Amino acid sequence: MDILTAFGEFETAALSAIQAAETQDVLEKVRIEFLGQKNGRMRDLQKLVGTATAEQKPAVGKRFNDVRTAVTTALDARVEALKSKARTAASDFDVTLPGELPRIGYLHPITRVMTEFRELMGRFGFTVVDGPEIEDERHNFEALNIPEDHPARDPLDNFYVSCASRVAGGPVLLRSQTSTVQIRTMETTAPPIRIVSLGRVYRPDTIDATHSCMFHQMEGLMVDRHVTMAQLKTVLSLFARSFLGPDVEIRFRPSFFPFTEPSVEVDMKWGNNWMEIGGAGMVDPNVFAEVGYDPEIYTGFAFGLGIERFCMKHFGVDDIRRFYENDMRFLSQF
Ligand code: FA5
Repeated sequence: MDILTAFGEFETAALSAIQAAETQDVLEKVRIEFLGQKNGRMRDLQKLVGTATAEQKPAVGKRFNDVRTAVTTALDARVEALKSKARTAASDFDVTLPGELPRIGYLHPITRVMTEFRELMGRFGFTVVDGPEIEDERHNFEALNIPEDHPARDPLDNFYVSCASRVAGGPVLLRSQTSTVQIRTMETTAPPIRIVSLGRVYRPDTIDATHSCMFHQMEGLMVDRHVTMAQLKTVLSLFARSFLGPDVEIRFRPSFFPFTEPSVEVDMKWGNNWMEIGGAGMVDPNVFAEVGYDPEIYTGFAFGLGIERFCMKHFGVDDIRRFYENDMRFLSQF
């Protein structure tokens, strides 16, 4: 057979097989049959080029190249066409079916309240700082004037982390209060100071309607010349009213904390009862001495509020455990 006729037949057969292929698998077989490296029919054509006379060579060579380009181009186009057909088939859907509402995520109510607290305290001029949740005994106790024999340091009343203690080279624990951040801030910052720090704290307390073993506190610290207890009461009262409304009733009871003198506990009216929402007081001179502040020059107040208790009042939730049960029906109502 004439070489050019053989090329023509090859081209016609290849192009019609390519067009006839309805699936990617069949098309792959066609590719192997015509263009396969090992036994593809294209190889036979190439051999024919070698048999052409010197006169025929230029025309035969050109025709061979044209055929090869035509077949490979058609093949590539068919691959694309079949792929796009498969995609359309996969996305074939019935537009008359009722739509599915996407499930929208919510910020946890406690997260939302914490954001609001930061903003409120920012308006009173307090900057937000952070501290680690795993702490050493110096920041959780010693620098806060809590001596070694103090009952608050009882291992049974704290979550010590034995593996981390080995790495740290001394006992470390999940912080039991955000007061740790008072120390961390004063260690690195010269007065005046006006900060709040919000975060998780951990205590092996018995869990009930108002106690959880992990909860959140907001610590506040203000240090300057002439800071007074009256300012502390003003800030806390204004804060509580801004968040819970002008009618909220707050009271201050004398109390004791090793790191404040005098100290108070803050209660909020809850129905006919009072609920404790935090502790506060004037920074004890011993704490100032620990961080190198001169207590003759500076005074300060500090407070630590239980954030969950505010959330309970704000959202009308009477059991703290509801916040941690991960029940979407409960969480998505706020
Ligand atoms: C403290 O933690 C002190 N660090 C507060 C403080 C800061 C005093 C600065 C003086 C100066 P207390 O242990 O009372 O204090 O806890 C403070 C508040 O955290 C409580 O009033 C309560 O609202 C909340 N709280 C305490 N334990 C729990 C608990 N297990 N679950 C939920 N909230 C709690």
